Formats: sequence, structure tokens, C-alpha cells
Amino acid sequence: MCGIFGITLSSETTIGALLRRALERLEYRGYDSAGIAIVTPQGILIRKDAGKVAEVSSRYGFDQIRGATGVAHTRWATHGKPNQINAHPHSDCSGTIAVVHNGIIENYEELKSELIAKGHVFKSETDTEVFAHLMEEYERSGLTPWEAFKRALSRIRGAYALAVVDSREPNKVFFARNLSPLIIGVGDGFNLVASDIPTVLEHTNRVIPLRDGEYGYITPSSIVVEHDGVAVDISDRVQLIPWSADQALRGGYQHFMLKEIHEQPEALASTIAGLEPRRLSEVAEMLLNAKRVYVVGAGTSYYAGLTFQLGLIEYRIAAIPIISSEYSTYEGLFDVDDVAVAVSQSGETIDTIRAVRAMRERGVKVVAVTNVVASTLARESDAVLYTRAGPEIGVAATKTFTTQVALLAALHAQVGRIVGADVEPRMQGLKRLPEVVRKAIELNEGSAKALAERLKASASAYYLSRGLGMPVALEGALKMKEIAYVHAEAYPAGESKHGPIALVESKFPVIFVFSDPSLKEKLLNNVAEMQAREALTIGVVPRGDDVGKKLKYVFEVPHLDPLLNSAAFVVPLQLLAYYTAVALGRDPDKPRNLAKTVTVE
Ligand code: F6R
Repeated sequence: MCGIFGITLSSETTIGALLRRALERLEYRGYDSAGIAIVTPQGILIRKDAGKVAEVSSRYGFDQIRGATGVAHTRWATHGKPNQINAHPHSDCSGTIAVVHNGIIENYEELKSELIAKGHVFKSETDTEVFAHLMEEYERSGLTPWEAFKRALSRIRGAYALAVVDSREPNKVFFARNLSPLIIGVGDGFNLVASDIPTVLEHTNRVIPLRDGEYGYITPSSIVVEHDGVAVDISDRVQLIPWSADQALRGGYQHFMLKEIHEQPEALASTIAGLEPRRLSEVAEMLLNAKRVYVVGAGTSYYAGLTFQLGLIEYRIAAIPIISSEYSTYEGLFDVDDVAVAVSQSGETIDTIRAVRAMRERGVKVVAVTNVVASTLARESDAVLYTRAGPEIGVAATKTFTTQVALLAALHAQVGRIVGADVEPRMQGLKRLPEVVRKAIELNEGSAKALAERLKASASAYYLSRGLGMPVALEGALKMKEIAYVHAEAYPAGESKHGPIALVESKFPVIFVFSDPSLKEKLLNNVAEMQAREALTIGVVPRGDDVGKKLKYVFEVPHLDPLLNSAAFVVPLQLLAYYTAVALGRDPDKPRNLAKTVTVE
């Protein structure tokens, strides 16, 4: 969480505006406060405050500030309240050093006491500020800024992506990475560092993802990277990113989330066109030869993984689903003959990275399913399958869920092909999926908007389904709670009688997902039970199916097979959550307390 950016150019420009634009792109990573630090001939100029980027930047006139080197930060608070003092950048006593940081410096309390004893005066409650004072302390003892930066780094423990400017070396941005993501953007006449790829695209599509333990500095014309005191050769590490800057803009939509819902047909078409049959076949063989299979992920990615885990039962493969942050409970199982499918849009979610590392330490082979080329997960896995959803900026995952489901369905089909199943219908369905999703949007956007006007008055909702419909119900409920703040819970419909039904009274919304036709009759019994309690029953149903007549509100979706349906039947639920959030005056792109990429455990 938190987004950081740093740039150094060969000539002066309105760098404040450039930093403001970078922060707008990074804002999905945290929006409690924002700030910039710019090196000027008079020293370092810091402007920062609590609030969203647009408010802070207009309050302090970011766009008018000129300079050639600066850093910027958007914050998701961990240590210290979101107020002006705790906003980044943080500086030392003399104001010559400014630091932006994403992560947590675990030993900051002991460092802080040590520095206070040496006379340093701290302004904030943050862990980050210790870094500025540490550097200052080492500079006071005669070290150059670069030496002081390295010495300070050797003292801190924890997760960090850091960018630092020092007015004694006005054309440098020092950086370091451990666990929190950081990439270098390689330019002509400038270089930059940033937390993610979309932020870089305005300037360059040549990037070097940094690895844990790497640190260095950029100047407008050079990049220096070291690891453990040894220079790292980065000449063959430059990656060309196939995303355009426009893809990371809102393009006329009110919110990124709505844009990304509408982009799903395209994102699916790219993912399907980009499937690599040889790679899929290698991975399918790995799965079939494994002693145990795990499917691991967090949040939406976990739910996409569940569609695969449940689908594998068809081939008598009992895969174990693991929520990334829970991996340690399963650690005793991990063994050399096992294979894990790790699903993560960003490829940077710390819980998933930790799970994967623990698995690999015990010899488990890991297959990454990710959307970000050269992400940590991609680099640290034995095989990688890429979704090709393009950049996803809205905090709520949408197109990344549907593309994960599609990619995993293709992998599922490949497993089936090897075991001699007839997978042709599924492959035909996969080809139709982008069009089906387009239709799902077209058919349901108006009714989602209308129903949102009713749901906005509800404090809670249930999402019920069975079998392969469950991941869709879980994902639908997650969308509703995370962006509309309506308490939404998903249950297997049969399980609802074992407790949850006690909450149901007149007009309580219950949303049924009918994506698995084999379970329709049983699910209809659960509809009847809810109607007997006067619940407001809503259904996502196959287009043209008479099941719709049994429900008060209906979203119709063209029907494929139950696995692929997960990608299409979720669409009305994405729209419903989106329009409910809008009806309640929430900002769906920046839900409170959340950040897109969770880089703290
Ligand atoms: C929900 C959402 C999160 C992410 C989760 C995992 O809309 O976006 O639940 O799915 O944080 O993120 P990745 O897929 O990047 O590992």
C-alpha cells in the first residue's frame, strides 16, 4: 500500500504538475494523504497534507512548482493518523533530505530512541521519518549522501520501497526495495522510480523491476544498482511493457471501475488470444503429475482460483484452496511433489508472495497466474500464465477476475484434454465468452442501476448459490461490501438454513446465482424459503430460463458451461455493486480503508 514516485530530469520543468499526475495514477494505492518534495536551489521544498491528491495539490499549487528532481507519495496510513504531519515526504532536522516510503520499518522504535538520544528532533509518528534522520546522522559523521544512504539502509529491517532526495546531490534520487514493489522507468534525459507500471507509462514503457535487496540511485542519464555492496548489471533487465498510457486513463467514464467493467469483453479477447498452448500443456502435465495441488490467492483472486479448484473435481483432482494469508496452517503439507497455482492480479500481494516463498522453500512447484509482466510473483514462480487484462486502476477487481476465470478455464480444458475428456464445447464457449460478457453488460446495466436505487436503503444482503456458483456469489458480495459499504455475505444456499436465515425479514435482499443448471431445482427450494420470509429475491439467471419468473428481480445472462458462467454471471453483480455505491455517494474507485495492492501482512 502507499504509492511512491521519484524522477530526475536533465532540465527544469513544472515538475510539480508532473508529480501531481503521477500521484493521481498512484492514488488507488492509498488516499489518506499526499505530498511532494522538490529539490530547489534554496533547499528542499516539501508540500504535503491529509486529503486526496486533487485537494492537496490545488491547496498547495503543485502545478506551479518548478524543478528537475523530486519525489512524491500517496499514503495508506499504517503508523500514525492520516494528518499533515504524518503525510510523506519526511525530512531530517536540517531539511536537506526528504524520504518517501511504502512499507513498514519494523525496528523504527529502537532507531528513533537512538536518534533522539543523539539530539534528533522528530516531527511525525511515522516509522519512515527515522530514515531521514539516520541519513542525516551519517552525513554529519562525514559520509557522502550515497554512503549515508547505504549505511542507513543497513540499519533498517522490514518491508520498504524508498525514494530519497538530498539537496547536497541535487540530481539524484536514491532508491531501495525490499518486499514492497518498485520499478525503474528508463528514459531519455530522465530516469524515474515508481511503485507500479501504469504510473510510468506517461513517460516511458521501458522498465526494470527491482528485486528484493536491490538499491541504488538514478540521475537523468545513469542508473546505478547494487545488492549487498556489489554492482548489479541491469543491461539485460529492461522490459518493454505492452500497455499504452491511454489504457491507464478514465477515457470518458465517470470511474475507472465502470470503464474496467466495460473493458471486460476486450480484456477477455486479449487474454484468450494470448493463451500459449505449449505453456498450458506443460502446466497441465505438472498438475496431473502432482501429488497434491494447491490453489492460492487473496480476495478476488482467491475466488477466481476457487472456480478452478472446484472445476478440477470433474477430473478427480482434489486441489486444496488456500487463502494466501492462511498459508502457514497448511505448511506441514507442502512437499516436493506438490504443485501450487498462485493467482494474483498484481503479482505483488505480500500474503501471496509469502505463501509462494514458503511453498517453494519446501520444494513445491509454483505456477503463477498474474496480470503484471515481471511482477515479483512472476519472477519467483516456476511457470507463469499471464492474463492480458491491461492495467486495472479501480481498487475493486473486475476485469482481472473475469480474465483469471477465463485463463483458468483454458488450463482446466487442457487438463481435460490430456485425460481424454471432450473439451471442445468448453473451448467453443471460451471463444464466445467476450461476446457473452458484452451481452451481459448490455442486458443488465439499466436494471442494475434501477435496483441499486432500492438496495441503497438496505443495511445487508445475502448472496446465495451452490457449487460453481459459489465463487460468483462470494465475489458479488465482496464487490458490494468493499465499494458500497453494504454488509453483504455469501453462503452456500443450503447452509443459509443453518443460521443466516435468522436475519431475513420483509424486504431483506437475497441474491441467487443460478450459474450451474444442475443445481437449479435445489436452489429454487432456497428461493421459496426466502420468499416465505418475504425476502426481496433477486436472481442472476440463464437468459430465457423460466427460473426468472420465480424471482422479484432478474438479471439474465447468456448461458455457457458452469465454469465459464462464472465470468459472465459476475458481471451484473459488479454493475449492481457499482451503481449502489454511486447511489450512496461513495467513490467506487477509492473505497475507504482499502488499497489496491496489499503490500503489508
Ligand atoms: C477486491 C480486490 C482484492 C484483491 C486482492 C488480491 O476487489 O481487488 O480483494 O483481489 O487484494 O490482489 P491481487 O490479485 O493483486 O493479488
